[in-house]
Amino acid sequence: MSGLAEPSSGTKPIYVLNGPNLNLLGEREPEVYGRTTLAQIGERVSARAGTFGLSVEFRQSNSEAELIGWLQEARHESCGVVLNAAGLTHTSVALLDAARALGRPLIEVHLSNPYAREEYRRHSFVSEAATGVICGFGAQGYLFAIDHLAQLAKSPNG
Ligand code: DQA
Repeated sequence: MSGLAEPSSGTKPIYVLNGPNLNLLGEREPEVYGRTTLAQIGERVSARAGTFGLSVEFRQSNSEAELIGWLQEARHESCGVVLNAAGLTHTSVALLDAARALGRPLIEVHLSNPYAREEYRRHSFVSEAATGVICGFGAQGYLFAIDHLAQLAKSPNG
């Protein structure tokens, strides 16, 4: 038997997908997004998932097309998705369409609280297809999302 920290072989990974400019975390507007780098978030997310026996595919792209491709891949290859679509959150119907086709739990995450910011950040296309939204908790929000997906993976009907 494997221990709890061993990713279980039967369950598909959680896809954690990050959109444009999130590769600059730590340097980019630290007063808004904090000083934690994306690599550090990736490490924390994988460690947290590991405590539930789950593994993570942690990816970032500045390309809308690539993110859509990953969402399509996640339809069959993941047990759920954590998505920080960054600026595309507020602009991309194509990303929404891909999110609608996912057929898996989808948690939308933002480091900042877009509702406390500029007017144009207050609408999210992604939210229309999201199971839930976590925003304003910095890097910790990713961990909340992992906790929820791990819970769902254990008992899909809540
Ligand atoms: C963000 C919020 C978006 O409005 C912004 O365009 C980002 C990051 C966040 O994590 O707070 O790039 O998604």
